Amino acid sequence: MGYQNFARKYRPKDFTQVVGQEAIVKTLSNAIKLNRLSHAYIFAGSRGLGKTTTARILAKCLNCEKGITPEPCGKCENCVEIDKGSFPDLYEIDAASNRGIDDIRSIRDNVSYAPIKGRYKVYIIDEAHMLTREAFNALLKTLEEPPPNNLFILATTELHKIPETIRSRCQTFIFKPPTKKQIKEYLKRILQEENIPYEEEALDLIAEASEGGMRDAASLLDQAVIYSEGNLTAEKVRQMLGVIPEGIVKEFLSNLKEKDLKSMVKTIATLEEEGYDISVFWNQVLESVHNALINLTIEGKDPQQIFTEEDTKLLIYANDIFKKASLEAKNFQDKKDIYQLAVLKLKFIKNLIPLEKILEKGGSIPVQTYQKKEKTEEKGFNLQRALQQIKREAGGIVAGALSSATIKDEGNKIVINIDKNLADIVKDKIDIIKSAFGKDVAIEEIQIKKETKKTKKRDEAVNRIMELFNGKLITYSEGEED
Ligand SMILES: Nc1ncnc2c1ncn2[C@@H]1O[C@H](COP(=O)(O)OP(=O)(O)O)[C@@H](O)[C@H]1O
Ligand SMILES: [Mg+2]
Ligand SMILES: [Zn+2]
Repeated sequence: MGYQNFARKYRPKDFTQVVGQEAIVKTLSNAIKLNRLSHAYIFAGSRGLGKTTTARILAKCLNCEKGITPEPCGKCENCVEIDKGSFPDLYEIDAASNRGIDDIRSIRDNVSYAPIKGRYKVYIIDEAHMLTREAFNALLKTLEEPPPNNLFILATTELHKIPETIRSRCQTFIFKPPTKKQIKEYLKRILQEENIPYEEEALDLIAEASEGGMRDAASLLDQAVIYSEGNLTAEKVRQMLGVIPEGIVKEFLSNLKEKDLKSMVKTIATLEEEGYDISVFWNQVLESVHNALINLTIEGKDPQQIFTEEDTKLLIYANDIFKKASLEAKNFQDKKDIYQLAVLKLKFIKNLIPLEKILEKGGSIPVQTYQKKEKTEEKGFNLQRALQQIKREAGGIVAGALSSATIKDEGNKIVINIDKNLADIVKDKIDIIKSAFGKDVAIEEIQIKKETKKTKKRDEAVNRIMELFNGKLITYSEGEED
């Protein structure tokens, strides 16, 4: 016998091996013992839960040479042939490809003949919901006058598509997804029989990823054993599944808080070197940044306990930059480059002064205005009060975005020059902003671009980055303080 995948090799051979369907197995066993089997069953439930398996075991129970029993021997010719799929009285019909009336008619003609070899003829109609209306009607006739020694099992993933007339003539069993624990038990049985060493955590990861189906679990195990070259470690399974090691995202976020860009860039490189799907990692980071932002604004705290309110501004920028990188990376082979450059962009957030500090500083506000210096002081005081009010009423994000803008008092209205990436945040709360300033407010979206003396000081690495950004310094500057 050639190579068999685990799902096939470890298909349960008797009821004791069927995992997680105890009620069904027990009911069927009792019905066999008490000679109370129904002539037709519906096995419903998603794929890979054991419907076909249980149907085949039932066929063995009825045809084992030992006699009708809930514990078929598995060794007699009939049992062996049923396992192999060559038993002449077991008919497996795939309704997905044999949907028509002719197929069902041939069953109808067949039911009146005696079994060829066994006691019962067993018909397993897989994907039964795919049958046509005519086919269902033909089937119904057979189910209405059930000839003896025939057993029908309709397996379906979509019970609601089976007509009521059919359902009322069948006993229905709903197969339920196994728990993670049950999946692990099944995987352990396989690994023990195969003599493959494993880490407990590796099985947790596979069980987690298999979405409640035994077949998926078995297939993932196939892959994992090959991938890990026979030693099933959690690390290998994580790599295979693209699950980022626990703690890495958290550490990356802590680095973000500290603006430790070097470590961040390195983490991205290391993950890629180790074979992880870094876009999965990036999405996790993005989700965490986004969550932190939302929670800080609404609840005033970060559930991950990494960021505090004074990081709000940093998070706004990071969220924006990281999201753009995520979109960009979609059409780009070398995702690592894009993610790393996104991290480096954080370097250009200048004067990242915590909002709290801005608000604490009485009088002088590092928000640049186009007013003359002497007027700025006076304006500054109003701005400070206005920003505080905005923060209270519209949240830290909005106030943070505003404090990165240039705000100009034109007498009858306030003009806000704001980076176009932040404009929406502000526009959403325009009413609150207007009432805080006590004036009409106009928002002008700008792309802030700046050439300063500092340009000359840029080192080579930065220049290279600049080139990659088409020479544009993307800066979220608050303007130079003079
Ligand atoms: N309840 C179960 N217990 C143990 N293994 C199972 C179970 N359900 C499914 N499997 C595994 O999945 C494979 C496919 O199961 P199958 O009975 O064909 O699922 P279904 O017919 O519900 O789609 C089996 O060969 C077996 O390896
Ligand atoms: Mg099946
Ligand atoms: Zn037998």
